Amino acid sequence: MADNDPKSPNDRIHDRIMEHEYDGIQEYDNPMPRWWLLTFGGTVIFAGLYLLNIGPVGNGKGRVADYEASMKAFDDAHPAAVGGPSIEKLMAMVKDHEAVDEGKEVFTKNCVACHGPDGGGLIGPNLTDNYWIHGAALDSVYLTVTNGVIEKGMPPWGKVLKPKDVERVVAYVTTLRGTHPANPKAPQGVPVQP
Ligand code: HEC
Repeated sequence: MADNDPKSPNDRIHDRIMEHEYDGIQEYDNPMPRWWLLTFGGTVIFAGLYLLNIGPVGNGKGRVADYEASMKAFDDAHPAAVGGPSIEKLMAMVKDHEAVDEGKEVFTKNCVACHGPDGGGLIGPNLTDNYWIHGAALDSVYLTVTNGVIEKGMPPWGKVLKPKDVERVVAYVTTLRGTHPANPKAPQGVPVQP
């Protein structure tokens, strides 16, 4: 074969046919291209370095510690209900039209899917009547909205919304009581003072 002849101008050192032959099939001794070898070597080195960052094996913090650190950073940025706003502050917000309007926006974005566009209730309870599962007082509503009722499907909004938005939406929810929604859901919970 001309290609295999060292004197041929076509000779390329990579294209030597190998000695062995199986079922009449021969192969060239082609090395992998350089870019491929470099990429491959790179992944091997990367894997080694990556391993060093894993749990008890290497000197990195590890997945679990990384996860906990992220969660802690998140919790620090979204403080829980403890030490929430005073009742006086929430009461003042209920009377503050601007705050209530902003609360309505928060409600429209986050709550209507479960409580209905006018708070009349869908999956979640009617927020306009005088029957409440977790209490109708401002601080009770604030706690319910902040911590949610996870096992019943009410999300903990303190982890999602800005603290200010939680306060505003609580103020808005309070203004819903006594309104007359189009399709009110049947009362749930215990009666409270109107
Ligand atoms: C994924 C559905 C869902 C969304 C979204 C949702 N809720 Fe709820 N909510 C519920 C359910 C279900 C309950 C009833 C919990 C129970 O039965 O203990 C509830 C209960 C409540 C209660 C207590 C009612 C009572 O009778 O004590 C308030 C207040 C409330 N939600 C406010 C809100 C606000 C404000 C938002 C938006 C920021 C919101 N919810 C978004 C499902 C939802």
